[in-house]
Amino acid sequence: MPTPLLADRFGRVVRSLRISVTDRCNLRCLYCMPDGEIPWFPKKRILTYEEIGRVATILASLGVREIRLTGGEPLVRRDLPVLARMLSRIEGIEDLAVTTNGLLLAEMAEPLLVAGVRRFNVHMDSLEPAGFSRMSRRAGLDRVLSGLRELERLKATPVKINVVLLRGVNEDQIVRFVELALCRPYQVRFIELMPLGGGEPFELDRLVPGREVRRRIEEIYPLVPVGRDRPSAPANVFRIAGGAGDIGFINPVTEPFCADCDRIRITADGRIRTCLFSRTETDLAALLRGGSPDARIAEALQAAVARKEAGGCLDLHQFYRERLQRKMWQIGG
Ligand code: 5AD
Ligand code: SF4
Repeated sequence: MPTPLLADRFGRVVRSLRISVTDRCNLRCLYCMPDGEIPWFPKKRILTYEEIGRVATILASLGVREIRLTGGEPLVRRDLPVLARMLSRIEGIEDLAVTTNGLLLAEMAEPLLVAGVRRFNVHMDSLEPAGFSRMSRRAGLDRVLSGLRELERLKATPVKINVVLLRGVNEDQIVRFVELALCRPYQVRFIELMPLGGGEPFELDRLVPGREVRRRIEEIYPLVPVGRDRPSAPANVFRIAGGAGDIGFINPVTEPFCADCDRIRITADGRIRTCLFSRTETDLAALLRGGSPDARIAEALQAAVARKEAGGCLDLHQFYRERLQRKMWQIGG
């Protein structure tokens, strides 16, 4: 076996790249964004599609095989299918996926699929209009649901649905989402609230541990363990007897999966982050715009990966106490 080109000092190898294409969003989820004015990145700081394509090509030559587009909300970036087409044609890239809040999916799903996107993760935190608006501070449930129908019509499966639970706010939706997975072919994944700040200053008492969610579901529906799609997949998956879809648990806080992490992230303003909780970043934009040759950029990427931290700062006692410099919408889940 040749030595992997993107390896860290713990022996983990990077094969998955998450690209945040914008920090902007058409929702204001409570746990992600503040309600008032948001200091968006100035347009000229955002990487162009050519710059993103160049980084992705270099990373593919170093061993990256999968790309996921995130935000903010990636579908609000203009001409996203142009970027999707460019990325899906890069030699070595085997999978291109998008994580979206679904508001623009009904219009955008087809052009994105045509451009080479293979899978969508849709995040929604409530199946009731009032609960949806409470969680995301905007209306839009109908649009998300029509986006999901469009994915089914286009047979863009598997569809994964991400649900973040907030104690006392949308816990009542657990059973609703399970019933959605019973009758539709979706993988509904409950994601633990992470202390990434940006939104309301929630404390640990707002986290609903995945284990508790599972227990609450099992009181009504037996769950059959399926396991992880692969060791680095964050979701632990279960089948519900007779269900069209399945249920996943992503427990980054109570059961961190850092030891199997194969991801790096690039922010919309062109910084490499090797972890959601990184305290340092590598300024790739400066290299890209400073005339560095590909070899120099490849070296910077390899050096950033070599420094990848062992794990996040998910020390439960520090939940939300230590404010991270960057907020989730600037990193791109
Ligand atoms: N904790 C957990 N998940 C979060 N997401 C955004 N902010 C947080 C947070 N603080 C989720 C979104 C989306 C994905 C990109 O990350 O709901 O599914
Ligand atoms: Fe927008 Fe996603 Fe943040 Fe919600 S969680 S405000 S949809 S970026």
